[in-house]
Amino acid sequence: MSPVVEARDLSQVYEIRRGLFRKAERLQAVSGVSFAIEPGRTLAVVGESGCGKSTLARMVTLIEPPTEGDLRLDGLDAVSPPPAERTRLRQSVQLVFQNPYGSLNPRKTVAAILEAPLAINTTLPKAERAARARDMMARVGLRPEHGRRYPHMFSGGQRQRIAIARALMLSPKLVVADEPVSALDVSIQAQVLNLLADLQRDLGLAYLFISHDLGVVRHIAHDVLVMYLGRAVEHGPKERIFLRPLHPYTQALLASTPGLSGMVRTRIRLRGELPSPLDPPKGCVFSTRCPHVTERCRVERPELRPLDGRLVACHYADRFLEAQAA
Ligand SMILES: Nc1ncnc2c1ncn2[C@@H]1O[C@H](COP(=O)(O)OP(=O)(O)OP(=O)(O)O)[C@@H](O)[C@H]1O
Ligand SMILES: [Mg+2]
Repeated sequence: MSPVVEARDLSQVYEIRRGLFRKAERLQAVSGVSFAIEPGRTLAVVGESGCGKSTLARMVTLIEPPTEGDLRLDGLDAVSPPPAERTRLRQSVQLVFQNPYGSLNPRKTVAAILEAPLAINTTLPKAERAARARDMMARVGLRPEHGRRYPHMFSGGQRQRIAIARALMLSPKLVVADEPVSALDVSIQAQVLNLLADLQRDLGLAYLFISHDLGVVRHIAHDVLVMYLGRAVEHGPKERIFLRPLHPYTQALLASTPGLSGMVRTRIRLRGELPSPLDPPKGCVFSTRCPHVTERCRVERPELRPLDGRLVACHYADRFLEAQAA
């Protein structure tokens, strides 16, 4: 099956000015990230705050062009598309945010919110738009009378259902969900995750699912991409990575996740502060916090390379593999 989205070496650099008379500095928010997602599959992007997850989401949803790299959506060039294809490209990918309240117009009813994308982008008559909005409400578990209500009349979980419904109105192939359940109670999180899984199965959607919570990722992901300071440090099938994390950073993330810490044999604690993205470590980005750091790590940046069915960027991953397999 051909991938819905293919990203190659995506990078994003921001120019930051810290004061009127100081010269601009480069902040590399994302560096050379590559991945592909097929229909019906979920790639979870995980990592601490500031590692570049939302920046990646903005590039993939065409909100912000990458400073470097290639992006293809449904086989089409999404970085500099021919004008005739722009509309189709924009419709093929939709974004769901952590806080749907901020993105739902408080003065519009749910029915109006769901019909709006159709009114703007299609020539469907009013009755057909209303029918499609009703169908979508049923799909996401809202009742018909909910269509006449306003966003503030709903719980957080219901609002996220509304946001998901709106994202699906134009039949996208890819949904980018940026921490979609992080603001919800744990019991509600499970309901929304189940809904996303059902929708994926029924509609063949591809998901780029962003989360800092590996407990959530474990339920929804097929593949996992672990980011640190803008770079992919480990990337591959969820089972591989959860069973046998080979990057010390992945090991530390797993060890610090309640309910998953039992899965890692090598106990690693994250120590020290996250370095400033304005002044990242020269060699391995994780070298300032890694318990296994050597001189080589400080000077030579490890490339992502295939090992044990995934990609990993660590000079010593083979040793971790031997140790864990033993
Ligand atoms: N528009 C911008 N201008 C300048 N710097 C930015 C901009 N957007 C993000 N950054 C910086 O880029 C880095 C990555 O930010 P990003 O929001 O992508 O991280 P994140 O992984 O989504 O974090 P969080 O988990 O807190 O949402 C951070 O250092 C951030 O300060
Ligand atoms: Mg973010």
